Amino acid sequence: QNKKESVDNRLSEVCELLQTNIPYYDWVGFYFKNGDKEELKLKSFAGEPTDHEIIPFGKGICGQVAVSNKNFVVPDVKAQNNYIACSIHVKAEIVIPLFVNGENIGQIDIDSHTEDPFSHEDEIFLEWVNKKVAEIL
Ligand code: SME
Repeated sequence: QNKKESVDNRLSEVCELLQTNIPYYDWVGFYFKNGDKEELKLKSFAGEPTDHEIIPFGKGICGQVAVSNKNFVVPDVKAQNNYIACSIHVKAEIVIPLFVNGENIGQIDIDSHTEDPFSHEDEIFLEWVNKKVAEIL
């Protein structure tokens, strides 16, 4: 098995693990910067397939995090004007940037069908997940 396959498999496993074990994590995915382009590309996910496999920098919650390098917790997606809807069931979202050598190279994105479900503990936990993922890339 080559390195790319093993990274892909492990990222998929992380998505599955989080999505199946945390009841309010309904969709879990990793987006990464797409080569030299100013856009994100979906790499792995668990949950319903999404049409938004490519997201330009600045667009939606994900695109904003690509530019801000900061966690973005959205308790109510209806209150956001720069938001890309993936499913009518989604009520809340959290996006945490993933850093390698201090550079924002991607992010974990989680959608929830529960209203206002994410706490500071989710941020701390997902920052830790991203650190672990950065070590295997
Ligand atoms: N809602 C995201 C788009 C990605 S989907 O949630 C999978 C956004 O506004 O960037």
